[in-house]
Amino acid sequence: MALPIQIVPSVLPCDFARLGAEIEALDAAGVDHFQWDVMDGQFVPNLTFGPDVIAAARKHTTKPFEAHLMVLTPDMLAARYVEAGCSRLIVHVEACPHLHRTLGNIASMGANAAVALNPHTPISEVEHVLDLVDMVLVMTVNPGFGGQSYIASMEPKIAELRALIERRGLADRVNIEVDGGIGPNTIEGAVAAGANVLIAGTALFRYSEGLEFAVSDLRAKALAARG
Ligand code: DX5
Repeated sequence: MALPIQIVPSVLPCDFARLGAEIEALDAAGVDHFQWDVMDGQFVPNLTFGPDVIAAARKHTTKPFEAHLMVLTPDMLAARYVEAGCSRLIVHVEACPHLHRTLGNIASMGANAAVALNPHTPISEVEHVLDLVDMVLVMTVNPGFGGQSYIASMEPKIAELRALIERRGLADRVNIEVDGGIGPNTIEGAVAAGANVLIAGTALFRYSEGLEFAVSDLRAKALAARG
């Protein structure tokens, strides 16, 4: 049974002076859940949301929050983001020398554990932890900023991951998420390669027809690409 298509906004392009209203507008537009791009200025050259910001936004929607931890010290920060209201934490392979333990710790906090791969990182880095995650994020940009161009050469990597998940009999448990440059011209390639959770930031806000149309258009394109 294939896992469902999910259209998930990155909060990164939102107006941070009106974050509660922006979350409510995205919720009303029909997004499935929310992704917070947490950046520490060390793992990536940008700095974004602390747990208190996410906790303040929690009351503006009942939909799940996931934290994409683009940080050098995920073990030190993980509990704070679960306490802030995130039900999934995504850690980067590149920041986790003890990835198996880190993922197990996240699960012990009652959150879903997920793992992210930067564009240069091979699928082999996650083959021994697939049983510990409910999602693998294949970055389709180099992390740190929104509005970057989609790296289409990641599509064979997505397909390779899809094949590995299916070989392991985990296709009904492990999602494949893509993040970076996802929009009307790129979503079909990502889904055809095997992704089912699509992170969109900049593209959502570029639709002149508004957020609701944007979410439904991206969802329709993704469903069509799945066949
Ligand atoms: C990169 C960020 C972005 C953001 C979405 O570190 O993770 O990928 O979420 O970016 P765009 O604006 O390309 O959808």
